Amino acid sequence: MTKKLYISTYGCQMNVYDSARMADILSPLGYSLTNQPNGADMAILNTCHIREKASEKTFSELGRLRNMRKAKEEKDQGGMIIAVAGCVAQAEGAEIMKRAPYVDMVFGPQSYHKLPEMMAEATRGAGQILDTDFPIEPKFDYLPDEAIDTNLSAFLTVQEGCDKFCAFCVVPYTRGAEFSRPVASIVAEAKRMIAGGTREITLLGQNVNAYHGEGPNGRAYSLAELIEELAEIDGLQRLRYTTSHPLEMTEDLCKTHRDVDILMPYLHLPVQAGADRILEAMNRRHTGAQYRTIIEKLRNYRPDLALSGDFIVGFPGETDAEFEDTMQLVRDVNYAQAYSFKYSPRPGTPAAALEGQMIPEEVKSERLARLQALLNEQQLSFNRTFEGKEIDVLLEREGKKEGQLIGRSPYMQSVFVQSPPHRIGRIATVVVEEGNANSLRGKLKTGSTASAA
Ligand code: 5AD
Ligand code: SF4
Repeated sequence: MTKKLYISTYGCQMNVYDSARMADILSPLGYSLTNQPNGADMAILNTCHIREKASEKTFSELGRLRNMRKAKEEKDQGGMIIAVAGCVAQAEGAEIMKRAPYVDMVFGPQSYHKLPEMMAEATRGAGQILDTDFPIEPKFDYLPDEAIDTNLSAFLTVQEGCDKFCAFCVVPYTRGAEFSRPVASIVAEAKRMIAGGTREITLLGQNVNAYHGEGPNGRAYSLAELIEELAEIDGLQRLRYTTSHPLEMTEDLCKTHRDVDILMPYLHLPVQAGADRILEAMNRRHTGAQYRTIIEKLRNYRPDLALSGDFIVGFPGETDAEFEDTMQLVRDVNYAQAYSFKYSPRPGTPAAALEGQMIPEEVKSERLARLQALLNEQQLSFNRTFEGKEIDVLLEREGKKEGQLIGRSPYMQSVFVQSPPHRIGRIATVVVEEGNANSLRGKLKTGSTASAA
């Protein structure tokens, strides 16, 4: 009998990728995915520790799962294995086990390939299982071959961890030191994905442009070289990578945006803040001017490059004038899309120790509202520039409305278009009729398909 597996995923794309791999690993043990926690035989919370709110959710959702397990047991429908995975598990494993003793397993992002062993232990009634080691052999060596994403647009982890130690960030502690997968195993995974139907691959890494995996000739490959290698694979139509650090935007990587035509003209390049004093306090190791220079260089190579970023407002000690520097940088760069957050102190990070300099909540909220208003305005005007123009859209799935498909533009916009469903999987030319805040709407250019699947 198949058992039901519920996975709740928080946070970044890396967690989305990891959740899919956990489902693949558990499938031979008889588990198939459900999107309902109620009645599940196993529930995994794949958690995020990046901001306060994200990690608070773990404990409230755990309480709900515990009640569901009780209800299931009372109805004599068996139990529910409750597991906590991801970055909260890595950072607060022991505390979770203490605060929520009913949790069966806690394991970090580097341990989930050991799930079959942990499941065996749990069903033997071995008590709570905690695994937050950083193993010497990377988990990628243990993932089954079939454990791959074959969505039309799919993610492929090429690098994990971070050595940058930005003063506000938990990632170097939860995901550990930088690690890059060898080129050969990435190429093999990409080929299997494409054979399974994938057309667009996004290379994932916490610091993806610091990629330096072993190349076929034994020497370390840069991300630019990896991209060139992947671009040779037949059937792959689009490539992207995320997330990048400005310091690693090397000349060869910038040039790749000009030279590799399947590399999409969209780049997520977080800057976090605009004032040099704050950038230094954040340990970003670049100035606002250096960031602007990189953007200029990229746009020289690829004039239609659309940019996305991350911003933090209210870093300890940030003055009004320094916040204005962030606003000015946003005006100068002009983003197509962006994420912005109020600073939240994370346990164990250097910035959390700057107690005397914390910015009041109301000030952070006011700054965030102003920044988001500006970013939303830029996003809307970016989307409007496409009105009346033709754009290539990878048609991915059916929309809610009858006869509607949803796809993605080269610039990551969602595009709604009337089209028969058999076109899913193709890249079609769409004439944009309307650019909205979060999407484009258009119609298929008659008689044309940019490329067949
Ligand atoms: N507070 C607020 N935002 C943060 N981020 C990372 N750490 C924190 C923090 N302590 C944001 C950064 C990062 C994104 C993934 O989350 O902008 O780029
Ligand atoms: Fe965190 Fe900075 Fe590393 Fe990004 S570069 S993961 S913000 S430490």
